[in-house]
Amino acid sequence: MEYLIKQYPLETGALEIQYIEEFFGEFPRRKTAAEILHRLRDREALILMAEAPLPDDPGTLVPVSYKVVHEIRADESETKLRDLVQRLSGSVQFDGRRVLYSWIGATRRDWRGQGHFRALTEQSEEWAIANGYNEIVVKTKNRYYDMRAVLAQLKFDVVKHEPVPEAQAESKVYLAKLLPAELVRGHRSVRTVVVAE
Ligand SMILES: CC(C)(COP(=O)(O)OP(=O)(O)OC[C@H]1O[C@@H](n2cnc3c(N)ncnc32)[C@H](O)[C@@H]1OP(=O)(O)O)[C@@H](O)C(=O)NCCC(=O)NCCS
Repeated sequence: MEYLIKQYPLETGALEIQYIEEFFGEFPRRKTAAEILHRLRDREALILMAEAPLPDDPGTLVPVSYKVVHEIRADESETKLRDLVQRLSGSVQFDGRRVLYSWIGATRRDWRGQGHFRALTEQSEEWAIANGYNEIVVKTKNRYYDMRAVLAQLKFDVVKHEPVPEAQAESKVYLAKLLPAELVRGHRSVRTVVVAE
């Protein structure tokens, strides 16, 4: 299978994500275009979306999966990111290195398990290596079992666990993956990438 991936600039990408987020009813707080613009406005970021045919209308392509990664630095001033850097200190080295944060992403239920998220992840890794990043980090929770299983499958290593003793399922799990140049040789997905306007 060949995956079709669109790479979006910030403004259009934010709107596309707001649209696809409407399909993720399982998450109470969906990302809005305004939040995405606010987070990404002044930082290097990559917005990717996979498109695939509708099962009952194969001529029509729809967005089915997305992923946003962005740069994260030791000297973050935005509250949430400063907090993230602090929590990662001792687990991820920021000084003298380029670190990428895998911020948000998901696949629409009817298209899960078809490799779209692997394709987006591999594309983001190729982009990251080409742009000089050394490591990619991601945060999840114990209760996101699907995401944890997928991250294991994509060879992310747990670098930190923050227990919430009164609600173990809410415990935070931080994972990371080093980005040596040779990583791309192990990539499995065949991808066509279109740069959208
Ligand atoms: C996690 C998620 C993005 C995966 O998307 P996807 O497009 O179905 O993933 P893929 O089909 O590309 O699968 C990637 C790999 O994980 C494996 N995988 C996928 N779903 C899995 C599951 N539920 N359990 C175990 N492995 C799984 C696949 O087999 C594949 O491995 P392989 O390429 O080695 O065969 C999707 O399930 C989702 O959107 N879940 C809800 C989002 C979420 O949980 N967010 C939590 C906030 S952090």
